[in-house]
Amino acid sequence: MTDSLQDLLCKQAEHERYAAASYTALSLWCVSEDYSGFSSFFAKQAAEEYQHMSTFHQYLLDRGILPVFESQEAPKGTFEGLTEAAKVAQSLEVNNTAGITACYEAALAEKDYPSQNMLLKFIEEQVEEEAWAAKMVTLTERLDCPGALYQLDRHIEVELGEA
Ligand SMILES: [Fe+2]
Ligand SMILES: [Fe+2]
Repeated sequence: MTDSLQDLLCKQAEHERYAAASYTALSLWCVSEDYSGFSSFFAKQAAEEYQHMSTFHQYLLDRGILPVFESQEAPKGTFEGLTEAAKVAQSLEVNNTAGITACYEAALAEKDYPSQNMLLKFIEEQVEEEAWAAKMVTLTERLDCPGALYQLDRHIEVELGEA
């Protein structure tokens, strides 16, 4: 594996770690605002992203590469409301997709078939991730009264297919 593909894969592990921290921050903010449904949804996303990081780490180790951590900025911890929270989640997913795409393009150029295979699973998953994020933005933008907000918070995990 070339240094550039190796760097991109290490960087993607770090993207996943940053997403895990960011979803944890989103979940904490939702707890503080008493949005328990959103909090639980974001907590599950945090666990998933941490798992993605671990998958990249294990893959790198299997290819004889020791993954290294970098210092990262603190994730955003306060939000104007649920729509801003949903937009932050959406940008995390869009950034993750971009990082995975960059890895895949490098793996194609290098004819690194195992990396292509490993990355395809993530490419497939990002379609679902971006779909729920877009739907979350739409649903939060549609909220027009406290009752609707309460109902959406209660049912968000079912709405987004994660329950
Ligand atoms: Fe991820
Ligand atoms: Fe994700």
